[in-house]
Amino acid sequence: MDLRSVIALFALITAQCARASPPNFVLLFADDLGYGDLGCFGHPSSLTPNLDRLAARGLRFTDFYVTSSVCSPSRAALLTGRYQTRSGIYPGVLYPGSKGGLPLNETTVAEVLKSKGYATAIMGKWHLGVGLNGTYLPTRQGFDSYLGIPYSHDQGPCQNLTCFPPDVKCYGFCDQGVVTVPLMFNENIKQQPADFLQLEKAYSEFASQFISVAVQNKHPFFLYYPSHHTHYPQYAGADYAGKSPRGPFGDSLMEFDGTVGKILQTLEETGVINNTLIFFTGDNGPELMRKSRGGNAGLMKCGKGTTYEGGMREPAIAYWPGSIQPGVTRALASSLDILPTFAKLAGAALPDVQLDGVDMTNILLNHGPSERQAIFYYPTNPSEKYSVFAVRWTNFKAHYYTQGAIHSQSTPDSNCSSLPLLHHDPPLLYNLEADPSEYYNLNSAEWDSVLKQIQAVKEHFEASMVFGESEIAKGRDSALEPCCIPNCTPKPECCHCTSAL
Ligand SMILES: *[C@@H]1O[C@H](CO)[C@@H](O)[C@H](O)[C@H]1NC(C)=O
Ligand SMILES: *[C@@H]1O[C@H](CO)[C@@H](O)[C@H](O)[C@H]1NC(C)=O
Ligand SMILES: *[C@@H]1O[C@H](CO)[C@@H](O)[C@H](O)[C@H]1NC(C)=O
Ligand SMILES: *[C@@H]1O[C@H](CO)[C@@H](O)[C@H](O)[C@H]1NC(C)=O
Ligand SMILES: *[C@@H]1O[C@H](CO)[C@@H](O)[C@H](O)[C@H]1NC(C)=O
Repeated sequence: MDLRSVIALFALITAQCARASPPNFVLLFADDLGYGDLGCFGHPSSLTPNLDRLAARGLRFTDFYVTSSVCSPSRAALLTGRYQTRSGIYPGVLYPGSKGGLPLNETTVAEVLKSKGYATAIMGKWHLGVGLNGTYLPTRQGFDSYLGIPYSHDQGPCQNLTCFPPDVKCYGFCDQGVVTVPLMFNENIKQQPADFLQLEKAYSEFASQFISVAVQNKHPFFLYYPSHHTHYPQYAGADYAGKSPRGPFGDSLMEFDGTVGKILQTLEETGVINNTLIFFTGDNGPELMRKSRGGNAGLMKCGKGTTYEGGMREPAIAYWPGSIQPGVTRALASSLDILPTFAKLAGAALPDVQLDGVDMTNILLNHGPSERQAIFYYPTNPSEKYSVFAVRWTNFKAHYYTQGAIHSQSTPDSNCSSLPLLHHDPPLLYNLEADPSEYYNLNSAEWDSVLKQIQAVKEHFEASMVFGESEIAKGRDSALEPCCIPNCTPKPECCHCTSAL
């Protein structure tokens, strides 16, 4: 072989290796963020330049759904590719002293990727359980390392905590009678209460460190960043406080966007940006009861706590330069589809369980159609008796039951706040493509064949559903609340440790 053919052969092998090396994944998950909250989804005064850049140079989803309109169940489904009803993360959400958590025999996307040698890390809000001696922490579910508050940052008294510099106290009181929110590193408490003003900076540094080390060690990596932003109470450090025209919510969103920018910068500096798939979405719709301090569902009806579109349809963006062409997709997709998609791209085997997610790679890589035809909307307190409240099949959505929610109180639409459960027989039927705001119920006689089809899809789904034992119904024990001085008294006040990050 002459030198030229050796070089050509070498170039060929290098190119094939480059293609064959599995991509890195960064999964960004905002909190209580509505369909209408980002600049690139139409909000006039949100400043989200980094997310807007991902949307402009990546694929923006218009029809992306989560599986629940509250935190814990939505996160369980995201990480397992299975409805929360299977894993038992219902009704409602987990609390600091919850006895249960995401069962350890559930396979998370981190565990799937670890089987292919991925380095894995999570920073931010876990909210899938703490339990006795950290039984349910992310380090027990496939994540090599963790920095964050293991549940919502309003699940502890916040009236004395600082949310904006120099010392603006958090708005409201948050949950009383429990420990203040801890900041954990792996399974240890680093600070209690967590210092909100320094938190995002700590996350950016953690991300940068994690990515740099993985790249140095030539490991593919998975970084999961479920942010506390933009959940109540909003907070922001000195770099973002007062910087957004939208007020506290806007500052909090802008700080999240800033962390996204810093992650992008690290990916660029370490030279892996073109081999990294970044996926962004949020856990559920906006908490409208917070009024202008809550999010905005845009033209979607109602918000958090409901099975209307505003509760469960979320902004979503996929970005992977060179592999995902820029554009907009109307393909139907769900947070359930993340696990099968990442597994496919990593060449990892799917867990041997009943999955509800489908592979989205055809949408991502070819702007192709979805394998998914339906979305099922469980209420926040799912039961076998009532089953799913609504079904979307193609562009039609049928509501069998509707109910407003305390989380969605405050808008002029009384359907969002009215609490009695309404049964609809025949179901209310909306064409979401013609009427995304669910304003105009179609005449059921005229659309009988569509309703029959939806009913068949619903029954088929229900036949596959086996409810797992409720983890949340296992109850709480205040002795399980994370405390930095385990045996101190009197609790919860004595659980107080200040240390620099
Ligand atoms: C996990 O274990 C529980 C209790 O034994 C069982 O009911 C459930 O089906 C298991 N889940 C999976 C995903 O294997
Ligand atoms: C929990 O951890 C404590 C302190 O390390 C230990 O004394 C106790 O035995 C552990 N409990 C269980 C059930 O593992
Ligand atoms: C907040 O501070 C006030 C005044 O110092 C104090 O009385 C109160 O106990 C504190 N509350 C909490 C939950 O820390
Ligand atoms: C990523 O790909 C783009 C377009 O091909 C190229 O301009 C850029 O230099 C690449 N970046 C890295 C870090 O490889
Ligand atoms: C909204 O409220 C009105 C008035 O109570 C009721 O007639 C209608 O059925 C409700 N719509 C939905 C979708 O719940």
